[in-house]
Amino acid sequence: MQIKINVNGEDKTVEVKPHEYILDTLRNLGYYSVRRGCDTTSCGLCTILVDGKPILSCGTFAAKCDGHKIITVEGTGEEGKRLAQCIVEEGVDQCGYCSPGFILTVLAMKNELRSPTDDEIKHYLTNNLCRCTGYEGQLRAIRRFLEEV
Ligand code: FES
Ligand code: FES
Repeated sequence: MQIKINVNGEDKTVEVKPHEYILDTLRNLGYYSVRRGCDTTSCGLCTILVDGKPILSCGTFAAKCDGHKIITVEGTGEEGKRLAQCIVEEGVDQCGYCSPGFILTVLAMKNELRSPTDDEIKHYLTNNLCRCTGYEGQLRAIRRFLEEV
């Protein structure tokens, strides 16, 4: 079947299988920032934005994305770069495998919550797991980013 999606501002018509997940569609298109972790909707590594909302691409059928706008970390522009810089400055960049999903979730949170408290930030990021760093560093990076934007 054919679907039409817009990825990072580019319209694409893609042939997908009925049971194909959008994680595989995007990686087949070369968006390798979309990471495969648990593959069971438990770790948040595969997060993408669909119409601005974070979703787990390992659990979302490609067909469901037909007609929708997708953002991967490649499409986050200056904001994404600044948040990545805050991550580096706070020493939270270890293996970096979780960073794309983490960055996309933080950017969605920024657009959804005004002046979030630490508890609200932690709650919003509950599904984004990181195997390397302590979460305190991530919180500092988010705080730093939010203070600047
Ligand atoms: S790979 Fe999708 S949630 Fe872990
Ligand atoms: S930095 Fe390695 S999983 Fe988060």
